[in-house]
Amino acid sequence: MTEVSIRKLGARRIWDSRGRPTVEAEIELSDGTVGRGIAPAGASRGTREAVDRRDGGARLGGFDVQDALASVRAEIAPLLAGRDPFDQAGIDAALIALDGTPTKQRLGGNATVAVSLAVLHAAAASRGLPLWRHLAGEGPVTIPLPEIQIFGGGAHAGRRTDIQDFMVMAPKAASFAEALEITAEVYLAAGRIMAERGLLQGVADEGGWWPAFISNEEALDTLVLAIERAGFTPGEEMAISLDVAASEFGRGGRYCLGLEKRELDRDGLADYLLRWCERYPILSIEDPFAEDDTIGLQRFTAAVGGRIQVIGDDFLVTNASLVEQASRDHAVNAVLVKVNQAGTVSEARAACEAGRRAGFGTIVSARSGETEDVAIAHLAIGWHAGQLKVGSFARSERMAKWNEVLRIEEALGAQARFAGLEGMPFKRRAAAA
Ligand code: PGA
Ligand code: ZN
Repeated sequence: MTEVSIRKLGARRIWDSRGRPTVEAEIELSDGTVGRGIAPAGASRGTREAVDRRDGGARLGGFDVQDALASVRAEIAPLLAGRDPFDQAGIDAALIALDGTPTKQRLGGNATVAVSLAVLHAAAASRGLPLWRHLAGEGPVTIPLPEIQIFGGGAHAGRRTDIQDFMVMAPKAASFAEALEITAEVYLAAGRIMAERGLLQGVADEGGWWPAFISNEEALDTLVLAIERAGFTPGEEMAISLDVAASEFGRGGRYCLGLEKRELDRDGLADYLLRWCERYPILSIEDPFAEDDTIGLQRFTAAVGGRIQVIGDDFLVTNASLVEQASRDHAVNAVLVKVNQAGTVSEARAACEAGRRAGFGTIVSARSGETEDVAIAHLAIGWHAGQLKVGSFARSERMAKWNEVLRIEEALGAQARFAGLEGMPFKRRAAAA
């Protein structure tokens, strides 16, 4: 028995960055400490990820979460009453058992993730520690390399481009603060280029400029131009990172590029993407093939995995067993970690650790539907992820997370070690050889 226990668990409906309802769980401990957790929401989801419980019907587009709130109040609260808040693993196992489905569809992944995060926040607060320190313990930590969106497409911009995220990374920056400053210049330059062309149409769901392009390649060319206009050398200070999110436009080895009105088979998409890897300074590619196309991923990773990070998002859905399988299959060399894809903190942490054991790159990621909650900034540092993906360099649900890392980097002072290229899977392998 520990002295501190969970006294109260409540839930309220709050609103996310798309103006949709979401679940906030609030836990009060016997020592008076309070912890809150908020469920984010994806738009381009993997079929095997935890399912949000939504009310359906006509009200609020069917997105309301009254049923998920009821899960917390009626089922989860009695289960957790009196429990040890420091036993995150035990609490998460109890949530998994109470739900009883592989995708948390009974209680709702939005209910379980909000509660699981609230427990974590309460435990850290009770110890009087920042969340990242509560997770990392006394040992050294690294500040993650940020992956930041400049143009947002795919499901986040009415399918205006097939490719979902056109992002940049500053792997040679000396610090997180410098990486953000370089990114800010590129983001501003990209906006100026769009304005000059009369193509400035606001921003997409994650804050990247709206991609008013006639081809996917035009977005890449514009990104290179923005890097140059900002005064940097593409491939030097600034590299490109893409999230193809191919499950959104492909299945069964066939891929339908809406913007270019072309259908490609697996080999055709491979040629298309490999050409980009030759032509553009690409450092990382996420979900280049659909979640059902292990062969496409294997061949692609065999071709570029020695120099480019190949991330599984929809393919791995933050699941440790799938990460281990992907490692055996040599299907990808990095894993995206989204707590709500798993549905609990412990499962997400297990997926991150499985990735590290496999020598994968590990990237803690936000969702396209976010809130002011900055937990993922702490998870990326506390779990030694090496990389952090939050969306673009605009909109406060994004900036809150970047800004939180700045504060932590400053607090660490001379002890702050910026991960830079260290978290890349191919670098690690090269260093080990
Ligand atoms: P989502 O997309 O949050 O809309 O699912 C993010 C991603 O694909 O990385
Ligand atoms: Zn993705």
